[in-house]
Amino acid sequence: MAIEFIQSKCVKCGRCAQVCPCGVIGMKDGQMAAIREKNCMGCRHCFGVCPAGAIVFDGEIPVPASAAKLPDPEEVLALMERRYSCREYKNEPISPDKLAMLRRVLDCSPTGCNSRGCKYAILATPEETGKFRDELYERLAALPPDVVKADATLRTLAIMRRRGGDPILRGAPGVVVACYEATAATGYVDAVIGLSKFETMAQALGLGTCWCGFLANSSGTLWPGLPAELGLGANLTTAYAMLFGEKAFGYARPCR
Ligand SMILES: Cc1cc2nc3c(=O)[nH]c(=O)nc-3n(C[C@H](O)[C@H](O)[C@H](O)COP(=O)(O)O)c2cc1C
Repeated sequence: MAIEFIQSKCVKCGRCAQVCPCGVIGMKDGQMAAIREKNCMGCRHCFGVCPAGAIVFDGEIPVPASAAKLPDPEEVLALMERRYSCREYKNEPISPDKLAMLRRVLDCSPTGCNSRGCKYAILATPEETGKFRDELYERLAALPPDVVKADATLRTLAIMRRRGGDPILRGAPGVVVACYEATAATGYVDAVIGLSKFETMAQALGLGTCWCGFLANSSGTLWPGLPAELGLGANLTTAYAMLFGEKAFGYARPCR
């Protein structure tokens, strides 16, 4: 991380030093400076807070400040109150525009110590998700009976699967699998926070979502190498998963 001050712009208000959680910024020879740069965790708060645009962060020159237009809180509350778990989906891909927004949400989700150690695999078409679904059930069918018997989730899934249908993925065309580095102090929580934000944005986009506990709880036995096979890296662990896609139909009223 490299923090440079454009001294001709700096008004010495000290906000950059105030907001820095790592004590990186202070006064040196009468000027604001990065005095403990090696402690920087890259949160970029100094860059964001500077009213004068005097901080260049990792070579990025600040653009003039723009006021954010906040959403109406009543609308945000209505969105939260109307959320529900969707278990019936249209068999169609998620549009690239919606996907792009969802990826942006994951990019700006917070992580402890700004570790940014979570990774998310997004399957967003019926074909991709269909292949994933087939492999899940092949793996379930191939498990030794005593392994299934010993695990409550696997037992439930085996019974539900015998009854037919898709108990794990509920026919969803989209799945997001959140994975984390076991060495990251808050890795599991970071991943779940990311999914929670994903859920809110997906529902704001009119998509249905459902937390996929069945996949999360069974993946350790059912598919231990899942993060690597999803292209996320062999050093990662599956934290949680979420189903998403266009709803087959909407609900007439909130469930609660
Ligand atoms: C952590 C978590 C895991 C869940 N896992 C599943 C799941 O695997 N399959 C499913 O159909 N629903 C799952 N759900 C949905 C819950 O059953 C649902 O949230 C609950 O019944 C309340 O309904 P609502 O989400 O519509 O308010 C999960 C929910 C949470 C919060």
